[in-house]
Amino acid sequence: PAEISRIRNISQVEFGRYVLFPWYFSPYPEVFAQEDSIYICEFCLSYYADLKSFARHRQKCTLHHPPGNEIYRDDFVSFFEIDGRRQRTWCRNLCLLSKMFLDHKTLYYDVDPFLFYVMATRDDKGCHLIGYFSKEKESTDGYNVACILTLPQYQRKGYGRLLIQFSYELSKIEGKLGSPEKPLSDLGLLSYRQYWSEMIIDLLLKYGEREEPCTIEGIATHLAMTTQDVEHTLQALKMQVYHKGEHKIVIPEKLVSQREKSRAKQKRLIDPERIQWKPPV
Ligand code: COA
Ligand code: NA
Repeated sequence: PAEISRIRNISQVEFGRYVLFPWYFSPYPEVFAQEDSIYICEFCLSYYADLKSFARHRQKCTLHHPPGNEIYRDDFVSFFEIDGRRQRTWCRNLCLLSKMFLDHKTLYYDVDPFLFYVMATRDDKGCHLIGYFSKEKESTDGYNVACILTLPQYQRKGYGRLLIQFSYELSKIEGKLGSPEKPLSDLGLLSYRQYWSEMIIDLLLKYGEREEPCTIEGIATHLAMTTQDVEHTLQALKMQVYHKGEHKIVIPEKLVSQREKSRAKQKRLIDPERIQWKPPV
């Protein structure tokens, strides 16, 4: 719809202890565009144009975590699974919030066909939203992510990588190969390329010369990535060589040393053992 591509309408958002500065238009009620700042409850995600009504809401709001099952917990983050059909208002509110940072032309008011995997950090006040990805309950294209977002106050700290890893861990449990919905944003593409490269390099370093994962199909199966994403990544990294009539996968020395450096500064990973989840039936 034309309205969605309009210019940024909300100038500022108070959200928990953060002030957010939106990047794009989001279809909040039109009166909200006249406000210097709007207020969003960080737990139920409902929105208010003035501080008074927001304060009144905060007195009454009893939610302290995303309204779904906690399917993952480590000492750092939790993941909640939320069904768009059962938590329609919350999920629509999440879409409105995330639209401020997503340049998509379409916004899914129809949240029913999606599951939302929400990552949060815990403290004595509750579970604070860091980011999420949505996933179609039935994706005919085999997508394992529809939308993915790290809230701006948490970006460039490795959380996007955790979201991406989590999406692939779910695909592994499902026994499927997954890929994010296209087109990806510039930031989405950067993050995915980084993830794909690191995972493939790590896998090949781990298995060395052993045959099994050293084919495109083998890598895809191990990482729950599509063969197309594996192939594109290998091409981009110039890891495929044709030698004496044979296609081979090699890791240039430079990539090995780059990976060692990046691994040294990498802080967190999802521990697949802690995921308490079965594919929804
Ligand atoms: N510039 C350059 N590289 C970037 C980048 C940026 N602004 N943001 C991410 N990357 C790359 C880097 O390689 C980074 O690794 P590094 O920090 O070790 O170099 C890697 O992606 C992962 O970064 P990470 O900190 O884990 O990601 P994030 O938490 O910032 O989240 C997105 C990444 C895409 C989820 C986030 O940018 C976002 O929410 N963007 C807006 C919504 C969007 O466009 N979503 C995707 C389309 S649906
Ligand atoms: Na609320």
